[in-house]
Amino acid sequence: MKQIVILASGSGSNAENIISFFKEKGSAEVSAVFTNKKTAGVLERCDRLKTAAFYFNRTAFSDSDGFVKLLKGLNPDLIVLAGFLWKIPTSLLKAFPNTIINIHPSLLPKYGGKGMYGAKVHQAVRENLESETGITIHYVNENYDEGAIIFQAKTRVEPSDDADSIAKKVHELEYEHFPRVIEKLLLKDGK
Ligand code: GAR
Repeated sequence: MKQIVILASGSGSNAENIISFFKEKGSAEVSAVFTNKKTAGVLERCDRLKTAAFYFNRTAFSDSDGFVKLLKGLNPDLIVLAGFLWKIPTSLLKAFPNTIINIHPSLLPKYGGKGMYGAKVHQAVRENLESETGITIHYVNENYDEGAIIFQAKTRVEPSDDADSIAKKVHELEYEHFPRVIEKLLLKDGK
């Protein structure tokens, strides 16, 4: 069976959605979730879903040899960043070419880059009076939010929307599309 590893830093609602999707489908499984935050909500979600989850600190992550070996041992077909906020070290990118993907809550290249995550993205979209926003799923490279785009989906921003309601619309797009895009990538030749 195809193996997915998820890296997440926060609440983990996307991680939960992906885990549940593949539990139901049976076409792949999330073998483990890793987080860089001890208090991340994703840990509690994984406990509830009976999915293995691990915390790692900055030292473990930047000792890339160790981390690469750990991940290699899990033999992942895809490494999925679902709200993961640390930059991926070059050694990890080299060890897993075309294997690490990220979801970003805007229509990249708009509202990407260092410091642009979660609510900050939606506030900027609101402040700039954008009429649409959306999600971008992309391969990860050495720069924040700059890897090749795999998929985008849009939603309208109404004048009455605030950052919270924009976040809700964007999350809905994420829940709808992210697991399906992952499934498609896993079905592709060579994955
Ligand atoms: C998601 O909206 C994801 O797109 C975003 O963080 C949120 C995590 O929510 N990622 C970024 O902003 C990355 N730059 P979740 O923890 O509930 O899945």
